[in-house]
Amino acid sequence: MSSLIINRVVPAIRMFTSRQKMMVARFDDRSELLKAEDEDDLLNLDFIKKSSGILIVDETQDPGEIIDDLTVKLSTWYDSRTPHPDYILLKGIGLVAIAENAASLDALLGKPVQKVKEVSGRAQNKIIIVTGGAQGFGGGIAELLYAQGANVVIADLNEETGGKMADSLNAVPQTNQAYFVKVNVGSAVSVEDMVAATVKHFGGLDVIISNAGILRAGGLDEMTPETFGLMTDINYKGYFLCAKYASEVMKVQSSFKEDYFTDIIQINSKSGLKGSNRNFAYAGGKFGGIGLTQSFAMELMPFKIKVNSICPGNFFEGPLWSDPERGLFVQYLKAGKVPGAREIKDVKAFYEAQVPAGRGCRVIDVMRAIFYVMEQEYETGQAVPVTGGQNMLN
Ligand SMILES: NC(=O)c1ccc[n+]([C@@H]2O[C@H](COP(=O)([O-])OP(=O)(O)OC[C@H]3O[C@@H](n4cnc5c(N)ncnc54)[C@H](O)[C@@H]3O)[C@@H](O)[C@H]2O)c1
Repeated sequence: MSSLIINRVVPAIRMFTSRQKMMVARFDDRSELLKAEDEDDLLNLDFIKKSSGILIVDETQDPGEIIDDLTVKLSTWYDSRTPHPDYILLKGIGLVAIAENAASLDALLGKPVQKVKEVSGRAQNKIIIVTGGAQGFGGGIAELLYAQGANVVIADLNEETGGKMADSLNAVPQTNQAYFVKVNVGSAVSVEDMVAATVKHFGGLDVIISNAGILRAGGLDEMTPETFGLMTDINYKGYFLCAKYASEVMKVQSSFKEDYFTDIIQINSKSGLKGSNRNFAYAGGKFGGIGLTQSFAMELMPFKIKVNSICPGNFFEGPLWSDPERGLFVQYLKAGKVPGAREIKDVKAFYEAQVPAGRGCRVIDVMRAIFYVMEQEYETGQAVPVTGGQNMLN
């Protein structure tokens, strides 16, 4: 099924059916569903709940025609009936299930009904992609968003760690859910697929956190064109690709629901605000990211899409710095980068002393900045520092 139809039609259905509160939706194209012609065919399938809330859309592959047909049928529906349809059958294409939360979508599509914990919070029922969400800042952000009621897509190159992260979040069933999608943010096809997988699974996209990033330090004498290219692909082009494909879905949503705000958030760095010695490939990509943020913000605000970067200071407690074998503290100790340092704690103390707040940046610090940009409707195009005072804006 073409992602064009999915990305245009499914978010439109979610917006049409989100009247009192925001709904979620799931697209299913099992072969039995592709053959279904009417309500009876659907109700004969054992994984479909016995429901009177079924709406059928005439067969066509044209997203515009599907939306026109839906507009007419849903307005008639709402004239005579109050609850939203549970199912919308797009004949020959698949079925869209609609519910108040992700756990109820499971029940509509034949999964065993479980007792779930009701969760409400600051990200209640939002659909949020976190790239690089398997570990580090991204993993912590995904956990906190999930705890605040978001449906979180953990999108990462590392299938094993990312899959485990999603499983651990889903271990105690809640109304909202986590979902793992494998992605390489440097590849256009892969990012486009990630967005389509999100729309299929949850029905739309409210926030994308472009967090996946890599760091390979080195001066001009050490940096190879290949390593420079790899870092640019992931840290800079990856952000462009996330914004490109996410904004397509976000634009559909704002066209069907006036004043519906969505967010593109880049996890940048303090190295995007100030040059970084022998680390230009990283700093250059991050500076470039702020240029993208400012430019995307101007282009996308008419669609109520806010675009902001968050610039954390060093995350000393995360794997990049604290991994016992490959972390920067061990590397800097071995390389004698900090004069007089004899142990890891000496290296750490040296770096902490450079921060007025006296410590490294933590996930919760970044999370507070994310909530600020998500909740603020009157700001876009900013690079928000979260550096404990290490970088101060002019
Ligand atoms: N660690 C810090 O001190 C620090 C400070 C400021 C900003 N940041 C930024 O925060 C973000 C996260 O950094 P971190 O330290 O948590 O990183 P990390 O290395 O702990 O985690 C990065 C995650 O991204 C994934 N990833 C790598 N390449 C990918 C690709 N091509 N496609 C999809 N996923 C990919 C990895 O598998 C990993 O799960 C980065 O953008 C980084 O620049 C980090």
